[in-house]
Amino acid sequence: MRVSIYRKAHFNAAHRLYVNEWSEEKNWEVFGKCANPNYHGHNYELEVKLTGEIDPVTGYFINLKTVSDLIKVHVEEVLDHKNLNLDIPELQGIIPSTENLVYYIWKTLRKELADEIELSVRLWESPRNSAEYPA
Ligand code: NI
Repeated sequence: MRVSIYRKAHFNAAHRLYVNEWSEEKNWEVFGKCANPNYHGHNYELEVKLTGEIDPVTGYFINLKTVSDLIKVHVEEVLDHKNLNLDIPELQGIIPSTENLVYYIWKTLRKELADEIELSVRLWESPRNSAEYPA
């Protein structure tokens, strides 16, 4: 039998959404307050969904403690209290939108999980706005 388990996590980070080649006016028009030149912060909420086949011996397919440690080491400790534009080498040259960030987190966690485990990640940038990968 296949089941899904969920784990929530949290981090705070700063970013700025802007396209270098555009004028300040155009950046403001497209990205609004997220184009603020001096950056701004978000309280990000993360939900990781894993789907797998239950092991009849243990009653689960992955230990939630393992999941929580993976998220802590590979996501929270990497992103928490960072500037997403400046501090994260893998995000260099990428606009740190929720959409791009959720994909980065998915790729990061995907590498740490067994192939037979399905992974889906949802990231809230604010209580009302979130992105999910895969779509
Ligand atoms: Ni923003």
